[in-house]
Amino acid sequence: MTKKLFIKTYGCQMNVYDTERMVDVMAHEGYQVIDTPDEADLVVLNTCHIREKAAEKVYSDIGRLRVMKEKRRKAGAKDSILAVGGCVAQAEGAEIHRRAPVVDMVFGPQTYHRLPEMTRAADKSKSAGDRPRIVDTDLAVSEKFAALSKKAVAAKKTAFLTVQEGCDKFCTYCVVPYTRGGEFSRSFEDVMADAVKLNEAGVLEVTLLGQNVNAYHGHDVSGTEWSLARLIRHLAEVTDFKRIRYTTSHPHDMTDELIAVHGDVAECMPYLHLPVQAGSDRIVKAMNRHHTVAAYLKTIEDIRAVRSDIALSGDFIVGFPGETDADFQATMDLVRQVNYAQAYSFMYSERPGTPAAGWDDQVESHVKSERLAELQEELNRQQRAFNDNSVGQTLPVLLERTGKEASHLVGRSPYMQAVYVDVGDGALAEQYFGKLVDMKIISAGPRSLKGEFVG
Ligand code: 5AD
Ligand code: SF4
Repeated sequence: MTKKLFIKTYGCQMNVYDTERMVDVMAHEGYQVIDTPDEADLVVLNTCHIREKAAEKVYSDIGRLRVMKEKRRKAGAKDSILAVGGCVAQAEGAEIHRRAPVVDMVFGPQTYHRLPEMTRAADKSKSAGDRPRIVDTDLAVSEKFAALSKKAVAAKKTAFLTVQEGCDKFCTYCVVPYTRGGEFSRSFEDVMADAVKLNEAGVLEVTLLGQNVNAYHGHDVSGTEWSLARLIRHLAEVTDFKRIRYTTSHPHDMTDELIAVHGDVAECMPYLHLPVQAGSDRIVKAMNRHHTVAAYLKTIEDIRAVRSDIALSGDFIVGFPGETDADFQATMDLVRQVNYAQAYSFMYSERPGTPAAGWDDQVESHVKSERLAELQEELNRQQRAFNDNSVGQTLPVLLERTGKEASHLVGRSPYMQAVYVDVGDGALAEQYFGKLVDMKIISAGPRSLKGEFVG
């Protein structure tokens, strides 16, 4: 009998990838994914702990699910199992059970391959009251990948492939080294085995994932080390992937070798997400970012020298402890100098257990909001200009999904812009779905482009 699984994913692409793997492992247990939690036998919240708001959202969702479970119980339906996974689970552990007793299972990002055993254990006891409280927040990464690699991959045109996980950088604001654990690179053979599987399943675009993906240094059986640059070159050579992307990178690990790949590997897409966080050396140093602003700008210059059309993206934090108006203006200067195709920006959020959370020169909340608004206005303007500049160009678009309107197909340009096309009736949709097609860009909005088929 099939059972129903609902997973809600919060946060980054690593979590999106993890959710896909959970769906794979649970499919082997007879679970089918559904779109709402109401009728699910198993509800999984795959959580994010990166900023305070993300974590608080999880608790309010748990509150809503508690009400839903209560309703089901009253209606005499079978109780659902509620599992909280991901980074909030890793950071809070058993505290989640204390704060929200309705939760049955708590598991971290490195233990979800054991989800089937945990679910079976929870499922045995019929009433929620005498279910065992399960907490599994081990941080040993390699066992997880070994367990997951045996499972099949879904048939899609774009896919994520985790090559690296965790982080040893310890930026003073960030929880990742604590929730995802230390830096870990998968072996070359393991990565290639997954890549070949995806390739054979018809995937055209692969995104290599890692919290610090450009720090990748996996070994092969002979003990030789593989950098991300070599790995991309090899993938381009031996697979039929038409597009290769990677994210997220750290400026410190942006080697000349990797920059060169952007210049001469056609499959490597002209898009780079390279967070700098702030434009003042004083702040960047206090953040423990291991690089200067000048070094970041030099990297941008070098990459533009080999790939002048590259679309740049970044992450920014405003209101880091001790940030003055002058420091913030340095961030604005840097943004104007780089000219981003898109970017993410956040107000600094104190994360328990990180060094900066304890500092006494925290920035007032209204100052943070004002700075964020000023920064976002400039970033939005730059994104809009980048998109406007695409109008009239012909760009290859991988039409991978349907849009908000049934007659729309949506895909990404090489520069990661969302491009949609109106295909009208079903016949065209069928013809173009999942295809990499040249499209003429006919108009631009702040977040997407509209295209039409050429020829
Ligand atoms: N406060 C605000 N933003 C944060 N980020 C990470 N930690 C924090 C924090 N404590 C942002 C950084 C990072 C992105 C994933 O989230 O910009 O690059
Ligand atoms: Fe967090 Fe810094 Fe590591 Fe990125 S590099 S995951 S921001 S500690």
